[in-house]
Amino acid sequence: MAIGSKSTVMRTQYAAWPYPKVPLLAAVPSTHPYELHADWLWDRCGSGPAPQRPRIWLAGCGTFQPYVFGVANPHAEITATDLSEPSLARAKTRCVLHRQRHVRFAPVDLDDPSTWPAGQFDVIECYGVLMNVADPLATLRGLAAKLTERGVLRLMVYPHWSRQRVFQLQRLAKLLGLHAGERAHPAALRTFVRRLPLAHPLRYAFTSYADSKNDAGIVDGFLHAGDRGFTGFQLGALARDAGLVPGHWFHRPWGQPDAMAERLQLNDRSQSFVLDYLDLWQELRSNFVVCLRRADAPARQVQPPRPHPSFTGSEHALRHRLRLLRLQWLGGKLPSRTTDDTVAVAAADLRALARGDAPEHLADCGLLLGGIDRAPRLPAHTDFAAESAFLDHTTTLRCGRRAPNPLYAHLFAAFERAQRHPELGLPDLDAQMGRWLPWADPLEERPITYGLTPYATYQRFRVNVDEHFARTDLGEARDYAAVRLRNDAQCLQRVRSLLADASELPVRAHDDAALRELFVLLCTHEQLFVTLEPA
Ligand SMILES: C[S@@+](CC[C@H](N)C(=O)[O-])C[C@H]1O[C@@H](n2cnc3c(N)ncnc32)[C@H](O)[C@@H]1O
Repeated sequence: MAIGSKSTVMRTQYAAWPYPKVPLLAAVPSTHPYELHADWLWDRCGSGPAPQRPRIWLAGCGTFQPYVFGVANPHAEITATDLSEPSLARAKTRCVLHRQRHVRFAPVDLDDPSTWPAGQFDVIECYGVLMNVADPLATLRGLAAKLTERGVLRLMVYPHWSRQRVFQLQRLAKLLGLHAGERAHPAALRTFVRRLPLAHPLRYAFTSYADSKNDAGIVDGFLHAGDRGFTGFQLGALARDAGLVPGHWFHRPWGQPDAMAERLQLNDRSQSFVLDYLDLWQELRSNFVVCLRRADAPARQVQPPRPHPSFTGSEHALRHRLRLLRLQWLGGKLPSRTTDDTVAVAAADLRALARGDAPEHLADCGLLLGGIDRAPRLPAHTDFAAESAFLDHTTTLRCGRRAPNPLYAHLFAAFERAQRHPELGLPDLDAQMGRWLPWADPLEERPITYGLTPYATYQRFRVNVDEHFARTDLGEARDYAAVRLRNDAQCLQRVRSLLADASELPVRAHDDAALRELFVLLCTHEQLFVTLEPA
């Protein structure tokens, strides 16, 4: 999509459906977003203590982030920008209601640098936005150029493999004629997906997706007019080409490449390799969230341990001080997005932090800064030269009796990678399964029998998958116009009846190729293999 037209499409979508939809009065306790404090982010990235009054830019802030960053950073100068003026208006109202007076707002198009705010920033937050812009590398390069020397850019992008079910739901919506331009379409998609059997992985994906609870979330997830995912390798290359290096991965320990390389015996790999592998096996358990620094930033530094500023009592707001007092008497739990679980803190620890002491046993929990060098040990990135051929292969339809079901193409990608790309040096599938054994999270349980994760599906269908590897007679086709299903006419008729029964859907004519694709998406979930014949 051309640059101007992409922003026009995004502006229209997010003007009609400001995201996220969170009640205006919903409050975040002032101690909760401690991992978004500029000092925390700088510390984790080895940048040392952040400036007293850091400049923070929220690039594509949506309706909620300005408030949360305001709460997390009461001493910062915050600039919140977005393409969608209704989102900015809602974010502004929220900040007024919650007395966050240090956030200023401006409409900014990340596709058009002439609209960008002036000056450099100590923290830039670009969360869930880069996949919406016309040229992600150009935008990321521009953001890198807006960082101060030690500045930190926190980036969230969707992972290619773990998000395949969302992309399949987007494809389903498109084939059904549902889009963000009609107010009734999010509800229509919800109604239609609920017609699917309980055991259907697309129904499971839809209902277990937190954002499917409201229409704006359904649009952002399933009726989106132009998002995309990034593989671990693509993200690594993107950061490198923008002149950035990972300072800290903003995941729970599972998604920290060093920790996972250790567990999966991938110690000689790069961070992008390990994250790509976690995503391929759908064990990333989150979007890709990474704190990046400029490649030319001064060397990482480790400061002496010091208490997190939000817990020293120095913050000015009365409500915050009262909350700290309560925690200092009763202790409590704090949410964490970077450690294994919520952080339990004893009242005595909080009293020590308030005095400016640094209890050593808190070193890992995020309330203590400095003390530890958290630099990733693995090199940031290696290329996977054949990646685009591999990605092409996963979207190509395979023809023959017992061909991989396209509904499960992303599971086959995990099964096939080592075999198709020996240059990556992965062990065979059996050995990989052995390494996953203590760590994989087989989501499948009744009523979902299989199809959610490669690990659990292979456990059940090992014989059939191994048989598939032994076959050499499968042809290939680019699209559903070039293939026929087994009993093609009956399959197409079955889909026509399904659509006719769904009064919530817009009336539209479908060609045979669309009906075939709908059949695969809607009616084949109980088959890991299907029969597709060349037309
Ligand atoms: C998925 S939402 C994320 C919002 C927010 N960052 C959050 O995490 O809650 C994507 C946001 O990016 C904004 N956006 C999309 N394209 C943009 C562009 N070209 N320039 C600026 N903002 C854009 C949308 O308006 C929307 O608010």
